[in-house]
Amino acid sequence: MIINRPRRLRRTPALRRMVRETVLSADDLIAPLFVAAGSGIVRPIRSMPGYAQLSVDQLDPEINEIAELQIPAVLLFGIPAYKDPTGSSGWDPEGPVPQAIRAIKRLAPQLTVIADVCVCEYTSHGHCGILAETPGSGDVLNDPTLEILARCAVTYADAGADIVAPSAMMDGQVAAIRTALDAAGHTHVAILSYAAKFASAFYGPFREAAESAPAFGDRRAYQMDPANGREALREVELDVAEGADMIMVKPAGAYLDVISAVRQRYHLPLVAYQVSGEYAMIKAAAQLGWLDECRTALESLIAIRRAGADMIITYFAKDAARWIGSE
Ligand code: PBG
Repeated sequence: MIINRPRRLRRTPALRRMVRETVLSADDLIAPLFVAAGSGIVRPIRSMPGYAQLSVDQLDPEINEIAELQIPAVLLFGIPAYKDPTGSSGWDPEGPVPQAIRAIKRLAPQLTVIADVCVCEYTSHGHCGILAETPGSGDVLNDPTLEILARCAVTYADAGADIVAPSAMMDGQVAAIRTALDAAGHTHVAILSYAAKFASAFYGPFREAAESAPAFGDRRAYQMDPANGREALREVELDVAEGADMIMVKPAGAYLDVISAVRQRYHLPLVAYQVSGEYAMIKAAAQLGWLDECRTALESLIAIRRAGADMIITYFAKDAARWIGSE
């Protein structure tokens, strides 16, 4: 005789709903946007079907749609008009990101605006900081880079960002940015730290989207080795100590163990970034008819929530908010 029959609770849709442990809601989603300098730009990103770089004058319909879908936040990346070795267009108050922040705050003040803080989109060499003199070494100088990251963060806070999100993986970046924000009178602006950011092949399509591929070398001297889980906890610990308000694990799908371990040990809101390659894989397989896009995307998102993420940055944000509503 079989005493335990878990299938009893899977019999009807209502029973399944009652025993469901994890839910995904539009409240959990953050939509990334690529904002290009210039005007009249809607430039589709080949490796991210359904996504395009938009100039600030083209943002309104996108922002209205995101707000109508009850998605609470956007994450902004900039594609600047000019690049130089230090990424100075990253802290230009007339650059695409500060302009977009002001435009979004005028149009939809209820929307939380998060500005990514890194210089790889703004440097001529595509690395996430200032390079050592030795040509071609690709060695990013940590401490001089902190100064420029802090400048970028203050520029975005000045423009009205609610949250800044340092993603350069420089040591001490959270403390440097906190100090600079406070000194500039932005004590209310929060820091979402890309605490555990891995040197991942899954960022491939983003580098096309943000035009930020390193011109030489790679990011393995500052982003984390995908083999290291304990080191991720150390990175989180340091960022918490430096004053991070929220922490992030990135990418998400291949790092569910890291999300789960961070969730168990820390009490700050935890964000996971379902990155461009995770999106592209599902999109490509769906286009070939090999996977059902809606079901695969929602399953990937619920898995990230189940692992322990409170919020998910995802290129599926708008689609997912629609799909959840129609379930
Ligand atoms: C910038 C940055 C990257 C991503 C977010 N911020 C790229 C990188 O480190 O190369 C990746 C996001 C994605 O793949 O969706 N430092």
